[in-house]
Amino acid sequence: MELEKKYKDAGDFLPLNGTDYVEFYVGNAKQAAHYYKTAFGFQSHAYMGLETGNKEVTSYVLAQDKIRIVLTSPMNSNHAINQHLAKHGDGVKVVALWVEDATKSYEETTKRGAKSFMPPTRTEDEHGYVIQSGIYTYGETVHIFTERSNYNGAFLPGYKPWKSDYNPTSVGLKYIDHMVGNVGWNEMNTWVEYYQNIMGFVNLLSFDDNDISTEYSALMSKVMTNGNGRIKFPINEPAEGKKKSQIEEYIQFYEGQGIQHVAMATDDIIETVTTMTARGVEFLKVPMSYYETILSKVGAIDEDIKQLAHLGILVDRDDEGYMLQIFTRPVEDRPTLFYEIIQRKGAQSFGKGNFKALFEAIEREQELRGTL
Ligand code: FE2
Repeated sequence: MELEKKYKDAGDFLPLNGTDYVEFYVGNAKQAAHYYKTAFGFQSHAYMGLETGNKEVTSYVLAQDKIRIVLTSPMNSNHAINQHLAKHGDGVKVVALWVEDATKSYEETTKRGAKSFMPPTRTEDEHGYVIQSGIYTYGETVHIFTERSNYNGAFLPGYKPWKSDYNPTSVGLKYIDHMVGNVGWNEMNTWVEYYQNIMGFVNLLSFDDNDISTEYSALMSKVMTNGNGRIKFPINEPAEGKKKSQIEEYIQFYEGQGIQHVAMATDDIIETVTTMTARGVEFLKVPMSYYETILSKVGAIDEDIKQLAHLGILVDRDDEGYMLQIFTRPVEDRPTLFYEIIQRKGAQSFGKGNFKALFEAIEREQELRGTL
């Protein structure tokens, strides 16, 4: 199969088991944790703060099936995280990758030109030890390599299990499907080469891999994947359009390059989106006319089109199957990070067929924000 051949072409100097966690720097981790529990169905998992002897930062770890997110806030004005927050607002700082050997991961990537964020560092507690190292990617975003085969604690040394009396149910999110980065003008290929040369990824030539534009929201995108296909990083750059590209809007408000959206997979998108909507998550809506023609484009699907239309779920098909997807509005006041909920039914691509309808929906929101 084409895809498997692609994966085999990837370098093997950086074997990755999967995503370890995603860490956000936020202004108020306690309140952010409440939002992700209530609205997104995450479960309380681990905690670090004053009660665990850490006077510098407070971090809440939330889990849902294979997804782990960490929400971190600084505890005093001198902490370096404050500069990150002042500049970018709330956003993704760390995309941590689970490896067998964090020292080798660091050596292999830095010797190929990666900028160091953190040399291999061992931490331990009564549950064993963990080794982590880190490198910078686009903007101030970093990849941390986590080696945890000798650790059986809740999360990482320094954290304790977080038991809460408030436990909203899961919404059925299972794993991170992909994470998309926005980079600046003419920088997409720089970062494509970074993932190729420094991390041994390959360009997954999906049929999304092309110039994408509507009247306004032009962008270009390429998808990078590691050798086992568990990590997929599409990279967007703005392109010339009539008015401001949505990628440019992101970079203006994030004040730099960074993670645009995190896509989380579910086995039942109708159930997941119904629950999230009821819990207050705001999704982007395309016009109803989308649903009048979609079945003639994608063919037969298992779902009831009326239900999809009611929730605003989009459908696309490639030669391996179809997929269902929906996007939230940005989850901060700045129009920066948002989420995608995705259910794959064979399709391995990213929804190119929906880009036009979707971007027109984004443009309507940009118009309201006065940022077109
Ligand atoms: Fe996506």
